[in-house]
Formats: sequence, C-alpha cells, structure tokens
Amino acid sequence: MTAFTIPFNKPGLTGKELDYIAQAISCGHISGDGIFTEKSRTIIEQVLKVPRVLLTTSCTHALELAALLINIQPGDEVIVPSFTFVSTANAFVLIGARPVFADIRPDTLNLDEARLEELVTPRTKAIVPVHYAGVGCEMDSICDIANRNGIHIVEDNAHGLFGKYKGRYLGTFGCLATQSFHETKNFYCGEGGALLLNDPQYIDRAEILREKGTNRSRFFRGQVDKYSWVDKGSSYLPSDMLAAFLFAQLECWESIQTKRKHIWDYYSEHLQDWAKEHNIGIPTIPPHCDQSYHMFYLILNSLEERQALIEHLKARGILSVFHYQPLHLSEMGRHFGGENYHCPVTENVSDRLLRLPFYNDITESEQAQVISGLKEFDGWNTER
Ligand SMILES: Cc1ncc(COP(=O)(O)O)c(C=O)c1O
Repeated sequence: MTAFTIPFNKPGLTGKELDYIAQAISCGHISGDGIFTEKSRTIIEQVLKVPRVLLTTSCTHALELAALLINIQPGDEVIVPSFTFVSTANAFVLIGARPVFADIRPDTLNLDEARLEELVTPRTKAIVPVHYAGVGCEMDSICDIANRNGIHIVEDNAHGLFGKYKGRYLGTFGCLATQSFHETKNFYCGEGGALLLNDPQYIDRAEILREKGTNRSRFFRGQVDKYSWVDKGSSYLPSDMLAAFLFAQLECWESIQTKRKHIWDYYSEHLQDWAKEHNIGIPTIPPHCDQSYHMFYLILNSLEERQALIEHLKARGILSVFHYQPLHLSEMGRHFGGENYHCPVTENVSDRLLRLPFYNDITESEQAQVISGLKEFDGWNTER
C-alpha cells in the first residue's frame, strides 16, 4: 500500500475515546444498548429533536431496518438517485424492491426534484433522497410529491448529520432517516450508523426488528417479564464499546463542525479563482442550505483530466479520490433496466468528480500543499 504524506482521510480522535471504552468495559456491559449507546443517541435526539434514535451497526443496516419498517414487498418500487452508494438501493433490493434510478441536479448533485414525479408509478413505495456531501436536497418539492402520492420518504443522511435545509435539520424530513458513523464520516466509531424515527408509530417495531425480532428492549425496561420472538428481525445493535468511541466524538460535535467549516472554507477561498480560470466546478451550496461540511470536491473537464490530476497529486504524496459510479450502469443496475443516457447528469459528473483530502485534523499547511499541488498541474485538456 502506498503511504501518502497527505491521505484522503485520517480518522482523528477527540481524546476521550479510550477512556470511554475503558469505562464501558469496567461497567461490565459491552453488548448493545449500554450507557454509551444511550448517551450517543440522546445527543442526536436532543439536537435534532427526533422522537427516537436507534444506533445501528452501519448506515446500510439502518437502511435495511427502514425498508423492513415501511413494509417493502417484492415488486414495490423505490426511487433512489443513481449517484449514490450501493446501500441506498441495496437495502431495499434485499427484500424484493425494484430500484428506480433518478438523475441528479448538476449544481448540488442531489436528486433532481424537477424530474422526480415522472418516475412515480402506482407501485412506488418510497423515495430515498441522499443529501450529497451534506447539502440538503430540495425537500419542499420532494415532500410535496411524496405527500400527494402517499409515498414514504427515507432520507439517506449518511453525509449530512447537523446540516440543515431551510433551517431544519437534515434527517428530520422523512418518516425515517439514516446516518453513517463509518470512519470516513464527520463523526465515527469505525463502522456504525443510526436510524432516526421521526414518525413515532415505528418506534416499537423498530426496537424489535433491531433486536433479532424479539421484545428484549421492552424486557430490559421492565415492561414485560420475559422476552420472546415476536416478529422478523436481525441483529443491528453496535457494541457499547463502539458507542463509547462514538460518544467521545458526538459530545464534541460543535467543535468538530467548526473545524470542518474552517477546512471547507479554506479550500473554497483558495481554489475559487483558480477553479474559475480552469473551468473547474466546485461545490454549490444554495443559500437556504447549511451544509454539514462533509467533503470538498472538484468537477474536472474530463475523465482523462481527472485521472491525470489524481496521478499528479499522487506523485506529491497526496491522495485524492473519485466517488460513486452510476448505479444504473452497474451490473445490478442494468439488471433492473438501467441503460446508458438514462441519467445523463450522473453519467457525466461521476467521471469528472474528484474529492480532496478532508479530515478533522488536517492542518492548514497540509491543505496549502494540496492547493499548491493542484495549482502546479498543467495537464489540462487543450481542446477545451
Ligand atoms: C450515501 C451513503 N449511504 C450509505 C452509505 C453506507 O454507510 P455505511 O458504511 O455506514 O453502511 C454510504 C457510505 O459511504 C453513503 O455514502
């Protein structure tokens, strides 16, 4: 493996992680739903004002729980952006749904709400907006379309914890929403996630599905005198050791977000003119969106230009990476009818997008090296 002077991601610590893990161990409760799970979920519930948050082993698992909770049946259609991580679709496909791929807006790279309604059919059961890079999708239009057609919204908010759309936290629009605490996210515990239950009608069943189909959560609260198998389900609880790590991160959420804002602003300020000069796109943040400062990306002029820039930065010890490949053109996507030109913006952007190193502890001097590395690049497509 190549060692990079400036990696793409480096999971940083707030300093309390090991201490809290030790506390979880000394409490003698390191399976799921111990004190640190409680503390972590409470932070999200209180800040976002969500009726209930359940920590899960990943965002993928939170999405799977969501699919079970809204009762997806074989043949149901679920609208997902083509420009997303595979789990956004796969969690629903796993229980028989057919993904319907939506294209994205060229500015925010979020699901294009103007082209959404044409994808709705009588079989549409859910829409899964992804707040790409933690910038809110156009939730007014998406909620309006969902409400008028009686369709559930499950927000895939893997990138967007603490971001807002029109002053309202991302993750609070859908009946259900999901978070990721994978080590590449703003807050992490290695692998982890959460399900946000905005509609309280799902709370009881969500607890059961997450606990192997048993009412063990009610038993631990003393609400039943024994627990047993009451529904389908699986095991979606993270160990309290992971929750202890996560709590060390979440309790510092404001300072982490302040750091990330600074990192994002530094890139933006120093790359803006250079980007304009070379016809390169940088993220668009609509004025009504408070982003979560999850990533900083560039949109180059061509695949060749992007690959040349990746190599150029690599030679300077800097790792920059591309992102999603269009889901509708993947092997599975084609199996569901995906074809070239179905989602032209996705197809166009995915070849040209490049993410810059972005982690909580990146220093200004490291960012300055990335910026000068970019500015030294001279492999532009001359035909532009
Ligand atoms: C939009 C989106 N959804 C879901 C996931 C899956 O998250 P996890 O690794 O926590 O399962 C990712 C992963 O990066 C993602 O980018």
